[in-house]
Amino acid sequence: MNRHQQEREPSGPIRVLSVASEMFPFVKTGGLGDVVGSLPAALRTEGVLVTTLLPGYPAVLDALEGPVRVAAMTPLPGVEIALLEGYAAGHHLLVIDCPHLFRRKGNPYLAPDGTDWPDNGVRFACLSRVAASIAQGHVGGYRPDLVMAHDWQAGLTGAYLHYDGQPAAPVVQTIHNLAFQGRFPVADLERFGLPPHAFTIDGVECYGEIGFLKAGLLFAARIVTVSPTYAREIQSPEWGMGLDGLLRTRADQLRGILNGIDTNDWNPETDPAVLFPYQVGDVVGRRPNKRAFQAEFGLRQDPDVFLLGLVSRLTGQKGVDILADIVPRILDHRTQLVVVGSGDVAMERALARLARQYPDRLACHIGYSEQLGHRIQASADSLLLPSRFEPCGLTQLCAVRYGCVPIAARVGGLADTIIDANEAAMASDVATGFLFSPVDGETLAGAIHRAATLYRQPARWAGLQRNGARYDVSWGRKAQEYARLFRRVLGRPEIGMAEFDNSSVRRRTPLAGPGGVVPSARGVRAACQAARRGRVRANDPFGRPG
Ligand code: ADP
Ligand code: GLC
Repeated sequence: MNRHQQEREPSGPIRVLSVASEMFPFVKTGGLGDVVGSLPAALRTEGVLVTTLLPGYPAVLDALEGPVRVAAMTPLPGVEIALLEGYAAGHHLLVIDCPHLFRRKGNPYLAPDGTDWPDNGVRFACLSRVAASIAQGHVGGYRPDLVMAHDWQAGLTGAYLHYDGQPAAPVVQTIHNLAFQGRFPVADLERFGLPPHAFTIDGVECYGEIGFLKAGLLFAARIVTVSPTYAREIQSPEWGMGLDGLLRTRADQLRGILNGIDTNDWNPETDPAVLFPYQVGDVVGRRPNKRAFQAEFGLRQDPDVFLLGLVSRLTGQKGVDILADIVPRILDHRTQLVVVGSGDVAMERALARLARQYPDRLACHIGYSEQLGHRIQASADSLLLPSRFEPCGLTQLCAVRYGCVPIAARVGGLADTIIDANEAAMASDVATGFLFSPVDGETLAGAIHRAATLYRQPARWAGLQRNGARYDVSWGRKAQEYARLFRRVLGRPEIGMAEFDNSSVRRRTPLAGPGGVVPSARGVRAACQAARRGRVRANDPFGRPG
């Protein structure tokens, strides 16, 4: 334990700086944004106060209420930034305002032509460098107990701390997806503000380049990934993406903690995207949604048709090509498919072509639509997840909660969160979906056939839906696991919630809103829901005065 940690009261709240490149409801390209946006409210209940450090994209700057400039700094050679502090949608944020790096519209990683922004290395080195300075207590009077560095974009945080050699908060590096590693040419070492001796196998060097995630995995106090099965898979050459050796050497510090979803946001009774609201588990109440959805997509409105859904990034990871190949085989007059997705241009085109070929059976929305992403879960009978690998996956969690039965590859978090409808599971009434392996067209078609057969037995199908509705998809226990891990890293005693004194949170936090009141978990959630509906209150009671 270093000086940094000793000064804090062990029974007090833990202050975590979460460092990320996206966060719902401001900027989201996938599940990372969802997790970064929904975990803080759950952690608060466990006595963990999260401040999130984000790049100052236009959407983040626009959402920030009453921002206060807390520091100006030059984190990297030639890069000047202002650090802003404020609240947005109930979240406490630190935002890096650096117009030439971050004030760009659109995707946080990609230019409008779909290629990576050419300066992504500097942009996310800047994010990590600022995080490291905050971890050292050098910035704006805020000093976290622990840093949670998400994915490669925050990966250099641990490296900066290592080469600075000053007391600082420890780093927990999370892996949401090992396929994205942030690799940049060695010529950028100086631009990234790293010393020449950092470029070794025991440093940031990764197969002849600078590896942001590799550095994160090497220097972190602990490594978390988003499911226990993925934690095992990435230690194998098949799924380790070149980092399995390093992960095996750090196996004792690596764990899988499943993701949860915000169950207030994902509630079919109050979800503004759901046309016919129904209670979780009400398999009859959800039926009108299917009919309306079929109409919305120009498909025959027939309750007996087995309606499949896919909501996903359209990429090789998600196995969309595997699905596209078997479309002619699986779609008949009793089976329809609706796709909501965007990504790989070739896959988008292939699906659009198939939709033209089978207009009465396949409909596509190529693009990103938060509304349709919710509506499909309330409407389709089954959700398809033919992923080649899946660190956790969130859509299957939303699906079971909404009564949409998942048909998924037996990989990563899908294997951990879905109970296959085999005979034993059906007999014990615990099955929640269908798992298949190996991941290919043949087994996917087989699983769809298996599901369609059960769909024609309404009582058994309703049983699957009800089991899914009972499955705990919330952050609750997962947030407890994170809190336990943080306490262990900090050498703090485990405390039960009965012992956790909430009033101390109110008194001591320097990050409170007006009147010293810290937003409650419920307040944060309400603000997020309002944000989803596009109705964030200008005078958010938890925000700083403007
Ligand atoms: P990943 O992060 O690998 O894309 P996840 O399942 O963890 O996969 O998270 C994906 C998130 O993005 C979910 O919230 C899902 O509903 C959403 N999503 C993906 N594609 C779309 C889309 N085209 N429109 C709306 N939401 C989408
Ligand atoms: C990644 C993974 C996905 C996971 C998400 C959030 O994008 O692909 O499986 O659910 O991160 O952790």
